[in-house]
Amino acid sequence: MEGAAIFVDGLVKRYGELVAVNGLSLSVPRGTIYGLLGPDGAGKTTTIRCLAGAINFDAGEVRLEGWRLPEDLDRVRPLIGYMPQRFALYQDLTLEENLNFFADLYQVPQEERARRFPQLLAFTRLEQHTRKLAGQLSGGMKQKLALCTVLVHRPPVLLLDEPSTGVDPVSRREFWQILLELRKQGVSILVSTPYMDEAEKCDRIGMMARGHLLVEGTPQELRERFPFRVLAIKAEPLFAARQVLGKLQGVKTAVLHGDVVDVVVEDAEAVITRAPEALAAAGLSFQSLREIPPGLEDVFVHELSSRGLATPHTVARGGE
Ligand SMILES: Nc1ncnc2c1ncn2[C@@H]1O[C@H](COP(=O)(O)OP(=O)(O)OP(=O)(O)O)[C@@H](O)[C@H]1O
Ligand SMILES: [Mg+2]
Repeated sequence: MEGAAIFVDGLVKRYGELVAVNGLSLSVPRGTIYGLLGPDGAGKTTTIRCLAGAINFDAGEVRLEGWRLPEDLDRVRPLIGYMPQRFALYQDLTLEENLNFFADLYQVPQEERARRFPQLLAFTRLEQHTRKLAGQLSGGMKQKLALCTVLVHRPPVLLLDEPSTGVDPVSRREFWQILLELRKQGVSILVSTPYMDEAEKCDRIGMMARGHLLVEGTPQELRERFPFRVLAIKAEPLFAARQVLGKLQGVKTAVLHGDVVDVVVEDAEAVITRAPEALAAAGLSFQSLREIPPGLEDVFVHELSSRGLATPHTVARGGE
């Protein structure tokens, strides 16, 4: 597509027999955030590595800001900020020294650093910590520092591989505030995440499994296409309740979410009648039932299960 910050058509990456990315196509318009979701091993990291020019791919067209990989790698490199899934900060260097290290790598001039570092540190609210060693920072601060290091050369395109995984909810929210602010400044972002609340913040999302994009669209579009209804059922004990509900006729999937079981159903009325009876018959205590709008996790689980792919029994919605 003309004008896309990231354009991928038919990307294929093989590791021997294994096809880690299998004909993936996507396009990220400038100044937007594209979220890649998918279970472990879906191919998210491999895709992002290909786009970052970190590994070669076997087939397909990849363009960043119009430049083609692998031919134009030297042109592409300064345009991207790539944060790998396991980003290595120098633990025994201070924040400032880490920034300088990456600024050296991208040959950022000294005057530019003097202007840019305070901005970045203020932007990420790390300014009180500049003399700390990276190793002394909290998990959330480390991720923010990692983001700063990929921003030192002002790349217009960011490739972020699970940048907030394992970070506490408050820090995750702050991290996403920064991403939304960068988007406002016109930066284009491709980000992988296991968190559905983060997926909600993206302009478009692609759900990936086994190297393919299963579905793609705005969060709203994906929810609207969902063909079933969702009931949130409270019962004790929860794990046993999930099993009983999962076997009820008309139930497509039953997934634990916090202290309820989210049950996706074809015929809501029938399940509303049958669920309390079935739970009681199994000796479980039924507590409450209400219909809720489908979430992205419901869409995701449905897309996986309708293709016979393994579905998770619990879903990370974001741990608010
Ligand atoms: N260097 C490699 N050599 C061989 N196989 C690999 C290599 N890197 C990844 N794979 C395989 O490719 C597939 C996709 O892996 P990838 O890391 O891209 O998944 P992912 O979606 O990022 O998963 P996760 O959510 O766990 O990070 C997996 O089956 C993985 O085992
Ligand atoms: Mg990965």
